[in-house]
Amino acid sequence: MELDYPQLTDEQFKKFSKMLFELSGIKLRDHKKYLLIHRLSKYVGPAKQFHSFEEYYQALQADESGKMVSDFLNVLTTNFTFFFREPVHFEFLRDYLEKARDSQEYIRIWSAACSSGEEPYSMAITLKQALTNPADYDAKILATDISRKMIHLAEAGVYHYTKVRGHLEDKLLKDYFNFDKETNDFSVAQPIRDLVSFRYMNLLESFPFNKLFDVVFLRNVLIYFENKEKEYIINKIANYIKPGGYLILGLSESLVGLQHRFKINRNSIYQKL
Ligand SMILES: C[S@@+](CC[C@H](N)C(=O)[O-])C[C@H]1O[C@@H](n2cnc3c(N)ncnc32)[C@H](O)[C@@H]1O
Repeated sequence: MELDYPQLTDEQFKKFSKMLFELSGIKLRDHKKYLLIHRLSKYVGPAKQFHSFEEYYQALQADESGKMVSDFLNVLTTNFTFFFREPVHFEFLRDYLEKARDSQEYIRIWSAACSSGEEPYSMAITLKQALTNPADYDAKILATDISRKMIHLAEAGVYHYTKVRGHLEDKLLKDYFNFDKETNDFSVAQPIRDLVSFRYMNLLESFPFNKLFDVVFLRNVLIYFENKEKEYIINKIANYIKPGGYLILGLSESLVGLQHRFKINRNSIYQKL
């Protein structure tokens, strides 16, 4: 494997890991060295823009435009997602909305690591199904991610049929998407788009919110962080959840071992105390 890729010394690996940590809070463990080499080989190699990792590192340090740093983050974050991933959470959201719609002054849902948009658009479809006319309840969705590339893709809201196949029933595709026969792409219909606002946001930075959220999906992202950062993020998020509101993690994730202000419901669903 090493023969195919430029050399990365342990010292250089530490420098890149430190930079990634300072930018995003993501910690790369030692066994991730080959992942880093593999992903950064997009920029570093004999026929690439940079011939050595050192040269690339220096250029990143000197980058004033922010473009290289943004590309660096984009290649190192894992953006795997799909529509209605872990359906039990969308069933929970629907039940919550049906109960909350008449008791809440407004409804805010947050997809806190939205990747390419499948999660917030699945929320928006759920909102539309549960409330029929979400505007009547001042119901909106915020979707954020640290990857600007993902935010652009999410905003575009266009998905090749191979991305939706198996995840969305025909009825949902018919009701909430437009199909382009030339490209085989499904694009999210305007009434669904209108429910979602996308924004770049690093979970480790301060949150500029002036309204509290009913439900926050923080799924399949805590995995990147050490306990200290996990605790910092979930406690900061707790400050922005309505009393009795919910934080939802990925099904394989939990708050075990962390100090927090939630009580576990079920299926990685936590209720603010
Ligand atoms: C695996 S995806 C999860 C997508 C979706 N929540 C799901 O469960 O299908 C993880 C996302 O977390 C984002 N991410 C990683 N570190 C982040 C940070 N510090 N702040 C905000 N988003 C971050 C990545 O860019 C990526 O899009």
